[in-house]
Amino acid sequence: MRIFIVGLGLIGASYAEGLHLKGHEIYAYNRSQNKVEKAIAEGIVEKDNDLDKLTICDIVILSLYPKHNIEFIQKYRYLFKRGQLVTDVSGTKTWMVKEIENILPEGITYTSHHPMAGKETSGYDSKDYRIFENANFVIVPSNKSGKKDILILNQIANELSFGKILTVDPKTHDQLIAFTSQLTHILAVTLVNADHYDETKDATGDSYRDLTRIAKINEEMWTELFLENKPALLGVIRDFQNELQYMKSLLLSDEKEAIMAYMKSAKEKRKSFDKD
Ligand SMILES: NC(=O)c1ccc[n+]([C@@H]2O[C@H](COP(=O)([O-])OP(=O)(O)OC[C@H]3O[C@@H](n4cnc5c(N)ncnc54)[C@H](OP(=O)(O)O)[C@@H]3O)[C@@H](O)[C@H]2O)c1
Repeated sequence: MRIFIVGLGLIGASYAEGLHLKGHEIYAYNRSQNKVEKAIAEGIVEKDNDLDKLTICDIVILSLYPKHNIEFIQKYRYLFKRGQLVTDVSGTKTWMVKEIENILPEGITYTSHHPMAGKETSGYDSKDYRIFENANFVIVPSNKSGKKDILILNQIANELSFGKILTVDPKTHDQLIAFTSQLTHILAVTLVNADHYDETKDATGDSYRDLTRIAKINEEMWTELFLENKPALLGVIRDFQNELQYMKSLLLSDEKEAIMAYMKSAKEKRKSFDKD
């Protein structure tokens, strides 16, 4: 297939490399042209790459931050052609999917998706298609989805070695992601900022490092994603505060059995995620 990748950042460049290795013809756009030149020199992107190539591609994968994806379509709407499948990899959906449905020209199908994999570093030089191995892949149909979209996205997921594939509507996606992805990043940064000791660095172990790895965060991207998903995110922050408050109350009242039961139920739930 001919695939056009919009944005050669961490995710876009990782898709470009992984899909190139599967034999697809890859074309790409990136704000900084030097990344495109690097991708051509590395043999990932075709030598005759040009923005106009978007018109001859079967699939367009929008790999910018949500608002930049929208700006890109607005600016280069005339390049999209009937019969193409447009998809995106963005971390929030409800707002962006609605905007894209409204601005995409007629005759183009659009089905969003979210690769549940990443890294704490960003940009082209961080690319690594192996991050997708066994990762979850969430497909998010839109009002402009076509019959074949799910099949094609399944093919992409398989070629990039993703694991489980889940299909949900945009609102459900944003609710799930508020918990599994956004709250976890908020916990990591708040945990690091809750530290008031000079010696912390020399007293950390695996638990601190595991829990705070993602605090080495891409603050520009995550600020946008948090604000776009504010209602769902505020809901899961409230739920988390309630759990923390409950744990605190058990400690205050020395409820040994209840503390053990609370941790045991979390352990069993977390262990069940590792099955199959
Ligand atoms: N990182 C993750 O863990 C992860 C996981 C799943 C999904 N996603 C989603 O993937 C998408 C891209 O994230 P990423 O991690 O690949 O980001 P990234 O590595 O920071 O790359 C950002 C991309 O956006 C471009 N860009 C930045 N500002 C721009 C602007 N003002 N106008 C046009 N282009 C601009 C950058 O171009 P330059 O090279 O010129 O800077 C680069 O191509 C996001 O929608 C995110 O939600 C990310």
